[in-house]
Amino acid sequence: MNDAMLQNLMLFLHILAVAVWVGGMAFAYLCLRPAALALEPPLRLTLWVEVFKRFFPLVWASIGLILLSGFVRLFQTGFGLAPLAWHLMMASGVIMVCVFVSIWFGPWRAMRAAVPAGDWPRAAAALNAIRQRVAFNLALGAITIAIATLAPGGL
Ligand code: HEM
Repeated sequence: MNDAMLQNLMLFLHILAVAVWVGGMAFAYLCLRPAALALEPPLRLTLWVEVFKRFFPLVWASIGLILLSGFVRLFQTGFGLAPLAWHLMMASGVIMVCVFVSIWFGPWRAMRAAVPAGDWPRAAAALNAIRQRVAFNLALGAITIAIATLAPGGL
């Protein structure tokens, strides 16, 4: 595989993974959340646990692909030679990963334990914490895409 093919493959994997992660958060926050508010808490919280059980592994896979493809491209170009926009993208991408890790080890653990135990107040508090962090990551994801694509003349 030559350099240009590797570049294209890395960009493809990068954008595919970004689409799954950011698109999944947009769907969850903007479509599923308002629709699920009509359900009674036990049903709603059970639904969210089942949704996250499927979505979060996809986020881990996306993170793996984003980091791999992003850093391959960065080092292929040369860390010092890369445009400022790429460095900014790396910084905001790393923050997004940290926020997701904080969800995984924090409120997601609490929620996964609280729902089968029928502890609805604890599950609701955990879901609220997840919601806030997903909103943050969704906004930062949109900003990161803007940095990656709008930076004038390779900022
Ligand atoms: C965390 C580490 C990340 C690194 C090291 C990184 C690095 C890179 C690099 C080097 C490119 C240029 C690829 C090329 O032109 O061949 C790129 C493109 C891109 N990245 Fe990232 N990225 C990261 C995270 C993210 C995240 C979290 C998002 C979005 C939420 C994102 C969105 C994009 C987009 C939309 C492009 C395409 C830009 C274009 O071709 O105009 N990146 N990234």
